[in-house]
Amino acid sequence: MELNRKQIVVAITGASGSIYGVRLIKSLMTLPVKVYLVVSPSGRQVMMHETGYAEGPLDPFLREKGAIFHESAMIDELSPDDFSAPIASGSFQHDGMVVAPCSMNTLAAIANGITDNGIHRAADVCLKERRPLILLPRETPLSLIHLKNMVRAAEAGAVIMPPSPGFYHRPQTIDDLVDTVVARILDHLGLAHDLSPRWGG
Ligand SMILES: Cc1cc2nc3c(=O)[nH]c(=O)nc-3n(C[C@H](O)[C@H](O)[C@H](O)COP(=O)(O)O)c2cc1C
Repeated sequence: MELNRKQIVVAITGASGSIYGVRLIKSLMTLPVKVYLVVSPSGRQVMMHETGYAEGPLDPFLREKGAIFHESAMIDELSPDDFSAPIASGSFQHDGMVVAPCSMNTLAAIANGITDNGIHRAADVCLKERRPLILLPRETPLSLIHLKNMVRAAEAGAVIMPPSPGFYHRPQTIDDLVDTVVARILDHLGLAHDLSPRWGG
């Protein structure tokens, strides 16, 4: 484990709400953090629909979107097909994994121990190694299968964090809304931020 720089795994899968993943990475890049980023093929497709992203590595896209990089922040973008990536092994230590957004497909794989891509495998490793795993499942309404998969994942140690923003600080923009969710993710990863006002703060 690196001494001063936290290492966080971020996966973006094919549920609506890729803005949560993008905003999370932008926030992480302002800190001395190394992000191991994996985007599923469907995640990439949805991101193209929902943001200005158009193929290729995400680093230039994030910079285009105004990301400010801390001097020791970096992104290592990995292929979801790469089972030899560090994050696929329990011996590689990191500080937690976030799946934002998490499709029902990826949720089902994680909840049932099916590891047919690098995202599922990295999440499976988090559960077996008892490392933080935060899932932002997005679908509505939820079937009983979706609900049961969330329970299974939670029982195995995942934090289920549906991306449902709070409104009590009167958000004015979409970014304000998204930040209320990203702030909770950073709280769970133990990373300092001032993204969103705190109740009673
Ligand atoms: C525009 C678009 C929006 C989608 N939104 C969702 C969604 O909100 N939740 C979900 O579970 N799947 C959604 N899907 C379907 C998933 O992308 C699909 O189930 C895919 O197999 C997920 O693969 P992945 O888990 O490897 O990313 C959406 C697909 C498209 C094209």
